[in-house]
Amino acid sequence: MRGVTVIDHPMVQHKLTIMRDKDTSIAGFRRLLREIAHLMCYEVTRDLELEMIEIETPMTRMDAPTIKGKKLVFASILRAGNGLLDGMLDLVPAARVAHIGIYRDHETLQPVEYYFKAPSELDNRLIIVVDPMLATANSSIAAIDKLKERGANNIRFLCLLAAPEGIEKFSTAHPDVAIFTAAIDSHLNEKGYIIPGLGDAGDRMYGTK
Ligand code: URA
Repeated sequence: MRGVTVIDHPMVQHKLTIMRDKDTSIAGFRRLLREIAHLMCYEVTRDLELEMIEIETPMTRMDAPTIKGKKLVFASILRAGNGLLDGMLDLVPAARVAHIGIYRDHETLQPVEYYFKAPSELDNRLIIVVDPMLATANSSIAAIDKLKERGANNIRFLCLLAAPEGIEKFSTAHPDVAIFTAAIDSHLNEKGYIIPGLGDAGDRMYGTK
């Protein structure tokens, strides 16, 4: 599929299988999501540009590589995005964070925005939007529309599972945004859930129903 990278690292795939299992506890699900976020963050940032800076070690001066450019922005689509966000911030603690509150109406499956808070300067920063499930893609498309309205021009999207229907719709709406996922599942059911999927990611993280 165009613009999609499946992160097929064995550690990611192993952890994902445990997360899919309906008998995995809430604590286990949350911990695994955080751990997978570490591994996926590593992959999604693998091509970041470096620049050399001069530092002094206890032994001598040296030129050493450091990540070039403005601080990254992680944009979490609430509420399930926060599970991935926590792990991403473990790896990049200085990243700036945007929170985008969007839920999907269970009848219409359409996105309803209720909160948006982002750093003021979004242009020329790498923005990694996180949401574990790319299902209908309605929420993620709306979130990225909003980020682009605020000047974002370099965006990547990171999820755990994607449905082919969601990828198609997302890539049509935002062909410039690369998708990183741990797996592409079979299809969406009539309620917009990913099959085989892992259920409702937010409910499984927070013990709600
Ligand atoms: N959101 C979820 O949490 N799970 C799905 O299967 C689809 C959307």
